[in-house]
Amino acid sequence: MKAKLSLIVCAVVVAAACGKKTEPPPAAGPAPGQAEPVQPATKGAEPAKPAALDRSKLSVFAALPAEITASSGAATPALVELGHKLYFDKRLSKNQDISCNSCHLVDKGGVDGSATSSGHKGQKGGRNAPTVLNAAAHVAQFWDGRAKDVEEQAKGPILNPIEMAMPNAEAVVALLKTMPEYVAAFQAAFPGQPDPVTYDNLGRAIGAYERQLTTPGRFDAFLAGDATALTAEEQAGLATFLDTGCNACHSGAAVGGGMFQKLGLVKPWPDLKDEGRFAVTKDEADKFKFKVPSLRNIAQTGPYFHDGAVATLPEAVKKMAAHQLGKDLSDAQVASIVTFLNALTAAPPAALIAAPTLPASTPETPKPDPN
Ligand code: HEC
Ligand code: HEC
Repeated sequence: MKAKLSLIVCAVVVAAACGKKTEPPPAAGPAPGQAEPVQPATKGAEPAKPAALDRSKLSVFAALPAEITASSGAATPALVELGHKLYFDKRLSKNQDISCNSCHLVDKGGVDGSATSSGHKGQKGGRNAPTVLNAAAHVAQFWDGRAKDVEEQAKGPILNPIEMAMPNAEAVVALLKTMPEYVAAFQAAFPGQPDPVTYDNLGRAIGAYERQLTTPGRFDAFLAGDATALTAEEQAGLATFLDTGCNACHSGAAVGGGMFQKLGLVKPWPDLKDEGRFAVTKDEADKFKFKVPSLRNIAQTGPYFHDGAVATLPEAVKKMAAHQLGKDLSDAQVASIVTFLNALTAAPPAALIAAPTLPASTPETPKPDPN
């Protein structure tokens, strides 16, 4: 009974914080009854007793589709194939040594495993590379949501001086036009366009490829009604996740990606310098707000948080409970949630993560520029 009450209080706290004008949460301290364990504490080496899972709460989630369909409609195979090639093509970087797949390895959870990635000449940015898997399902792209969708996002890194460092869009288009196989692939992907090799179309093709990089798995089978798709321990972990209130922010098909929230909502996040979404909107209310990341494939996508400062998943979960919900979880509760999160790992279709055969260079194709 008590636990139920605390959950309701917590839901109210977060609901208030989820509103447009985020005021400091009314109950910024521990919610009444929050010290109450959300499930019977495990004693000794005894395995966690499956916490009762209230299936009605599962409606905050949704199954992942095979394609996150663009508003313009489903992608054609030719468009996806072109995007797949462009995503893997290092010739789209100044020194022809970096592709999208260098920082977002699609066969490694869509990340590079580094706190911050290395771009042109080894330069480092200040943020952790999030996974591209299921990213198309998010409300916006980047930690601060500064790009509206994957099509717009894809045009950024190629021209970013510390990422792929190409001088301008015209240089990218000129490079692509030196390769007849690329010209033919753009024609197949954009039938009827007189001059289909454009920078916008490059963004559309890469975006169409990313829209196929979804990872439906056992959790989706469970949501669809197959009660055996998750083990008893994983279901207990899911119950702990829900009872703790993580789903107030990590919800929807991607178990996240649907909203912006303040990092350190209940308890300030130590040494937070990155102002997050504030840099995009200049709205004081957006200071220190970040896009709530997807927890799909989270076991593969460490190190964690916008700066990659936290190495392990248990530590990330413990910090989240403390700073976002004002709850001090026991090690057993953390382990239980991690058991559930581990069940969110699944791979995109094998054909999409294999390295594609790239169009051949010609004598006209520019050479790498290490400067
Ligand atoms: C040098 C490393 C690097 C390269 C190369 C790179 N990215 Fe990224 N990518 C990042 C980082 C770092 C971020 C986060 C930046 C931020 O949020 O400010 C990011 C963010 C993203 C996101 C947003 C995901 C989300 O959850 O918001 C997508 C999608 C993405 N990149 C796709 C691509 C594509 C497509 C390419 C190739 C055109 C590419 N990236 C090239 C490092 C890289
Ligand atoms: C009030 C909203 C909110 C709640 C509640 C919340 N989170 Fe988060 N979560 C966020 C935000 C925002 C971030 C991104 C913070 C950052 O890196 O700047 C995040 C990041 C994470 C990350 C790191 C993801 C990554 O890709 O680096 C994990 C893991 C996580 N949350 C798990 C949880 C768990 C487990 C719970 C429940 C104990 C929880 N969260 C509760 C908002 C929330």
